[in-house]
Amino acid sequence: MSLMTWTVEQHGTNVSFADNEHQQVFQNLNILYDIRIAGAGNPEIVAQLKVLLDIVAAHFAHEEQEMLAKNFTGYERHKIEHDELLDTCTAMQIKIEEGELELTERICQLIKTWFDSHIPEYDRAYSQALNTN
Ligand SMILES: [Fe+2]
Ligand SMILES: [Fe+2]
Repeated sequence: MSLMTWTVEQHGTNVSFADNEHQQVFQNLNILYDIRIAGAGNPEIVAQLKVLLDIVAAHFAHEEQEMLAKNFTGYERHKIEHDELLDTCTAMQIKIEEGELELTERICQLIKTWFDSHIPEYDRAYSQALNTN
């Protein structure tokens, strides 16, 4: 069972790099979710969590670079949202690595909910700006 399924209705931004990268993020969140369900040990969880967070960080950096290049007015607020998620996830990652925290269903759902709300609310908002030459 996948945690997240990308659909154009729910997640489409009309910006192709963003849609591609969002699908990559979802795929890697699904892998993390599935290995957890299958009973993966801590080293495997930690390794996949790192893969996921690297992809998320690269995606955020890409969006930020494109927003800046187009002088998008929503950049500052958008970047704060990105930084907050990365800070939260990095703190969780350290605790999981140290064996102080377990990757739970609730944590996976929190990440899913964040993307389900961020993409329509924040990412769709840059669509017009990023599609303007
Ligand atoms: Fe995004
Ligand atoms: Fe974003």
